[in-house]
Amino acid sequence: MIIDFYADTKTRPSRAMREAVLDCVVGDEQKDEDPTTRALCDRVAQLLGKEAAVFLPSGTMCNEIAIRLHTEPGDEIICDYSSHIVNYEAGAPAAFSGVMIRTVHGPNGVFSAAQVAEAIRPASRYLPKTALLCVEQTANLGGGTVWPVETLDEVARIARAAGVATHMDGARLLNAAVKSGIDAARHARDYDTVWIDFTKGLGAPIGAVLAGSAAHIEKAWRLKQRFGGAMRQSGIAASMCLYALDHNVERLADDHALASWLGARIGALGLVERVVPVETNIVIFDLKPEAPTAAEVVEALRAQGVLVGAFGTRRIRVVTHIDVDRAGGEALMAALAQCLAGGAVPSAALPQQA
Ligand SMILES: Cc1ncc(COP(=O)(O)O)c(C=O)c1O
Repeated sequence: MIIDFYADTKTRPSRAMREAVLDCVVGDEQKDEDPTTRALCDRVAQLLGKEAAVFLPSGTMCNEIAIRLHTEPGDEIICDYSSHIVNYEAGAPAAFSGVMIRTVHGPNGVFSAAQVAEAIRPASRYLPKTALLCVEQTANLGGGTVWPVETLDEVARIARAAGVATHMDGARLLNAAVKSGIDAARHARDYDTVWIDFTKGLGAPIGAVLAGSAAHIEKAWRLKQRFGGAMRQSGIAASMCLYALDHNVERLADDHALASWLGARIGALGLVERVVPVETNIVIFDLKPEAPTAAEVVEALRAQGVLVGAFGTRRIRVVTHIDVDRAGGEALMAALAQCLAGGAVPSAALPQQA
């Protein structure tokens, strides 16, 4: 059996989630006639404190539609250098929106108001226009870092004062909400658009919901059609997302507890140089120069049926989610300890899972 710590996208819908599909009422979503999808959008709009929301096939499409709706070709957007938008969307901001990206380098993916102030360009006929500020809550490659709400507010305030729109990539916003005990709407309060993903820790197979003002979401519908994201009987997917909201949000705390336990143990392995502080469900760690490379470690673990990701030659990422448990964590630690020889495996007790 494979134990997959590569990403929280690897989850498979549970039987109960699949059963939630059987009785759902469906219609033609492209005409906004699918009642289950409507119910999901209304619920997410409320959860995120926005007027309206639209169902999309993926988080990537949420980001790209948001970028297109807030910008004109030739504009510039501000993102952290580690963000999904910069690294994993196949150059879509340039291809679909014709925008440039100005990257800022925040510690663990969380940049400051001063950095935003520095990055916003003054109005000038020679310079690109800064049109949009993007933040990622939590910061994935920052190590699942939770942006403090005060920092979210401050960077948004600087942007708004300069007439720059604000967008939150909330792929793991609910992880941040569960971790901080502050509801998602408060995190997103000062952001013009925000979305959550159902295919990460929430364990659904398809779907993300983008929320914002009624006017922005109306525009997003048109872009959804243009980008080829409009669907038909999408209630089939939306019913699994509704199931996830009912059953899989509070349990994200279990993923955080397992990640924290893994982080402490990984940090004690002799050939591990440092573990990025673990805040939610992501553990990122760097190997010492004398250790095998990250790719070699990944291969050694794969041979034992445990999957993790290499990010660069010395960096490894481990992600916890609904389909891995404490036994999987033990298997991961045993495999890691074998290949990072010289390390010790302390016998810290697992925190109780809720
Ligand atoms: C921070 C972040 N943003 C966006 C995405 C894209 O989401 P999707 O896979 O639903 O397109 C991901 C996916 O891993 C992500 O981690």
